[in-house]
Amino acid sequence: MRRKVVAGNWKMNMTPTQAKVLVKSLADEVKGAEAEVIYCVPAIDITTVADAIRSTDVKLGAENMYYEEKGAYTGEISPEMLVDAGVQYIIIGHSERRQLFNEDDTVVNKKVLKALEHNLTPIICCGETLEQREAGVALPFIEGQIKAALEGVTAEQIKKSLIAYEPIWAIGTGKVATTEQAQEVCAAIRGVLGNIYDKETAEEVHILYGGSVKPDNAKAIFEQPDIDGGLVGGASLTLDFAKIVNYK
Ligand code: PGA
Repeated sequence: MRRKVVAGNWKMNMTPTQAKVLVKSLADEVKGAEAEVIYCVPAIDITTVADAIRSTDVKLGAENMYYEEKGAYTGEISPEMLVDAGVQYIIIGHSERRQLFNEDDTVVNKKVLKALEHNLTPIICCGETLEQREAGVALPFIEGQIKAALEGVTAEQIKKSLIAYEPIWAIGTGKVATTEQAQEVCAAIRGVLGNIYDKETAEEVHILYGGSVKPDNAKAIFEQPDIDGGLVGGASLTLDFAKIVNYK
């Protein structure tokens, strides 16, 4: 049985001061949750949040990382820095980074490999645009993203990784994919993993849904057979996040 995972993606929100307040206000609500809880936070908040969640079960994630070890890359953050600061998860290939910061499949793949090399668990994002969905090419497009992201990733490594299906048209728009749409794509992703690796390996991989997950739709989405939880943006910044974590 795959344990459910609920990861918050704070994006570019929360100063360190605000982060401390948010984590404190969520602490009792997410304590002892059945689901694995992860806060993926801006780099500037990592130390504050690491301190605030010490001695809890909540895990810490980052939103970005560079694929080189160290050196003259002004403004970038290395995997070693993240690990040293207490980070265990790293979001890679989010559509906002692909669209706004020109991260292509090659960069995504390099980051995935580098994260795994450092024992950081990648949360690998994929998802189609509205145009692609309407043109009926969503599934082949996502298959391409997954294959490219996983080039050189072993079966043992993919078992430890997370995949997040986030239809771009559902991110921050309030337009959530129907449970059928979300399940269809997550099942297709599992099928792709089965083809790249084998069925047994594919069954072990956690596949999350992201895109306007809210307390009132989380249960229906998370109960789909191929959906193992969610990557939550907007709703991760309020007490709604605890309601999503405790969706049952
Ligand atoms: P949203 O964002 O929940 O605000 O739609 C999800 C995400 O981009 O990870």
